[in-house]
Amino acid sequence: MKFFIDTANLDQIREAQALGILDGVTTNPSLMAKEGITGEENIKNHYKAICEIVDGDVSAEVIATDYEGMVKEGEALAALHSQIVVKLPMIADGVKACKYFSDKGIKTNVTLVFSAGQALLAAKAGATYVSPFIGRLDDISTDGLNLIAEIRHIYDNYMFETEILAASVRHTMHIIDCAKIGADVMTGPLKAIEGLLKHPLTDSGLEKFLADYKKGN
Ligand code: G3P
Repeated sequence: MKFFIDTANLDQIREAQALGILDGVTTNPSLMAKEGITGEENIKNHYKAICEIVDGDVSAEVIATDYEGMVKEGEALAALHSQIVVKLPMIADGVKACKYFSDKGIKTNVTLVFSAGQALLAAKAGATYVSPFIGRLDDISTDGLNLIAEIRHIYDNYMFETEILAASVRHTMHIIDCAKIGADVMTGPLKAIEGLLKHPLTDSGLEKFLADYKKGN
């Protein structure tokens, strides 16, 4: 299972990278705005800065919503760095643009996916990644994890190569449940990743080992 961090915060990206478990980064316009990154040039420079920190794929989202605009913007984003993955919204023009980039061998991430049907279309268009938003489905009393399971089932039926990138992961149990279902990738906040580390028996066990060592030395 690949671990992506879902943030545009460089310190948090560095921290996850230093842990040695990071496979990539996802961003979106809201995460960029949260870090105060505005303006086309600043946003592009920020993507490049992220690529310098991590070794893996970095999703950069287009703002255009028409096919020609997405193609133009996506090509400019892909030209920024070899690690850039063009992130496209799950709308008809996004599907067309996904097919265009797939045919050119440029990696894509189809985002804002909320149904198995949308995921099927993304795979048909040759998406590298499909991003079902589990937290936002949970927010409206719909089982986000069930969507991951449905997509896993469909993709396995036909051996689609599109990777299921569980997105809108909000907490540590989301990560564990996605791993049980077989999501290829999860993207979440640093806090959710760090939650995997914690267990009170690890802390108390370590404390006792160190105390016993001190007694004998
Ligand atoms: O990965 C998608 C993500 O950025 C959306 O997360 O928490 O805003 O639903 P959230």
